[in-house]
Amino acid sequence: MRPSPLLLALPALSTAQQQFPFLDQVKGWFAQASNSISSAIPSAPSPPSVPNPVASGAKVIADAKVQPLTKDNYQDVLKPGAATASPGIEEWMIFVTGGNKTCFGRCERAETAWNESTALLSASRSPPNLGLLDCEAEPVLCNAWAVGPPTIFHFLIPQPLADQSTPATTVRSFGLNRTTVTAPEIASIHLEEKYTQKEPYEGIFHPFDGPLAKAGLAIPVGYAIWGFSLIPSWAFMIGVSFISRSMMSRRMQGGAPAGGAQPAAAPAAGS
Ligand SMILES: *[C@@H]1O[C@H](CO)[C@@H](O)[C@H](O)[C@H]1NC(C)=O
Ligand SMILES: *[C@@H]1O[C@H](CO)[C@@H](O)[C@H](O)[C@H]1NC(C)=O
Ligand SMILES: *[C@@H]1O[C@H](CO)[C@@H](O)[C@H](O)[C@H]1NC(C)=O
Repeated sequence: MRPSPLLLALPALSTAQQQFPFLDQVKGWFAQASNSISSAIPSAPSPPSVPNPVASGAKVIADAKVQPLTKDNYQDVLKPGAATASPGIEEWMIFVTGGNKTCFGRCERAETAWNESTALLSASRSPPNLGLLDCEAEPVLCNAWAVGPPTIFHFLIPQPLADQSTPATTVRSFGLNRTTVTAPEIASIHLEEKYTQKEPYEGIFHPFDGPLAKAGLAIPVGYAIWGFSLIPSWAFMIGVSFISRSMMSRRMQGGAPAGGAQPAAAPAAGS
């Protein structure tokens, strides 16, 4: 006898709950892997090549163009050749921030540091493109990328090849320490090429080349994870037990007619 597909689905349903900590681990990995950055910059001295933000700051800040990202525009904005006409690899730095719900209202220091760092970054000889992702306004995109604020995403987006195929995009993420992050620390990711010291991210939430993105599922999965996160866990448990119970009883009812079919059919034939 082969087990019914419904019964096989049951354990998968009940382990769905256990997969959410996995998501936290992914997010935790993002945050942890970047701790080396803060320790690599003991008291955050500006290297001589970095212009003083106080001196050149205000005007350059006004000039720095930071593109807001949404689930609807990110594919157009983060396209090679979209922001600059120059050939070669396009570098992007994207600040992921949040508000009361997504950052416990504690992203302000990181936001200030980012705002100041945009002056440093745009003063560099080859300024990266700058983007902003607000998880409070864009929870779906943040979940699709499995990213929590405050974080810097660093993308290297290559131009399409002559045959129009797209080479892989390099993605690195740097979790920022909410209480200690500084502008030079953020700027050093580009200015001192700190990003080269970090392994690129290759996991399933890779925004361009991950299996979800390739299958066009990143945004639907973002919706799903976000939707689940809105359900309290007790409601989820009740839902799972309700579904498994109704599956059990349907299976029992489904089994009964096999034995009970003849007695039930007999009176009908006799009448
Ligand atoms: C965030 O929370 C603080 C303190 O609870 C409150 O003063 C502030 O208005 C909230 N901000 C938003 C955008 O809801
Ligand atoms: C950072 O800059 C943005 C855009 O100029 C501004 O809306 C925001 O209030 C600034 N945040 C902080 C903490 O200075
Ligand atoms: C941020 O830095 C402070 C001071 O160095 C440290 O105590 C804290 O654990 C750090 N937080 C995270 C999330 O790494």
